[in-house]
Amino acid sequence: MKKVIMGLAVFAFALSASAADYVVGFAQTGAESMWRTANTDSIKSEAAKRGINLVFSDAQQKQENQIRAIRSFIAQGVDIIGFPPIVESGWEPVLQEAKEAGIPVITTDRRVNTSDESLFLTFLGSDFVAEGKMAADWLIRELGCNVQADVFELVGVVGAAPSIDRKKGFEDGIANTPGIKIVKSQSGDFTRAKGKEVMEAFIKSPEWTNSKQRVVYGHNDDMVLGAIQAMEEAGIDPSSEAILIGIDGVADAFQAIVDGKMHCTIECNPLLGPQFFDLVDQVMNGKTLPREVFSVDGTYDYFCAPALLPLRKTLY
Ligand code: AHR
Repeated sequence: MKKVIMGLAVFAFALSASAADYVVGFAQTGAESMWRTANTDSIKSEAAKRGINLVFSDAQQKQENQIRAIRSFIAQGVDIIGFPPIVESGWEPVLQEAKEAGIPVITTDRRVNTSDESLFLTFLGSDFVAEGKMAADWLIRELGCNVQADVFELVGVVGAAPSIDRKKGFEDGIANTPGIKIVKSQSGDFTRAKGKEVMEAFIKSPEWTNSKQRVVYGHNDDMVLGAIQAMEEAGIDPSSEAILIGIDGVADAFQAIVDGKMHCTIECNPLLGPQFFDLVDQVMNGKTLPREVFSVDGTYDYFCAPALLPLRKTLY
């Protein structure tokens, strides 16, 4: 926290700040999914590797807790703040407070929706619209263009960037394939338990009973894995009675694909630690950052999942 000491110290800091010199506050959303756990591990292990003083907070899936954590980082006078905004809106007041305190902010994984772009330095993460579109593209390739299919959509946390964007990307992707329709859409909060609960209701609906080709599209893998549990408990065979697509590319989804219970997962790379701390380092050394930095995602289905599963288990 040398920057707050005196003008001279600020100058020296800007010229050659090293990792041990600064304090980074990171306000995580919670531990709602395998993806999130991998993301937290990546942030913590990279900080430890670089000898960075990390102040970490877990908001337990509540925006008010994340805001409280950021306020506490400001009060502690950390040098820089990173956070994945749990939902897109409602951040202006606290980001304004950080700005007034001279503390730069990087949003990781999820974006904020604000008209004042000066409230954060940069965004680091995946292109969620592209992920939704990749899921739709895979489905169309799998089914062919002239099919009828009913999509049962498991939405993430309402108001969260990945939920909004993955819905939009998927809808854009199927827009020119009128036979594919979203017939049910409900939030499963990105958790396995809630995904299972929502799927239990979907299974009982007339849309499910009357459908000739069912597709379960989840905004993350954990909800799809919960949906598989619901199907199996109801005596429904996931391998033959629906096509199941998730997003994240976590090891359990790869395993489900290998077991024939799930069909495709679109990657969303959670290992943002190295890129995040590279950006922190650049800011601390007076460099200007691009407004956004994207990680690159892949598509994995039953052709490639078996070969890649062993490697995946070592990642996340
Ligand atoms: O913001 C990324 C999303 O958040 C992941 O897809 C999901 O699993 C997590 O909870």
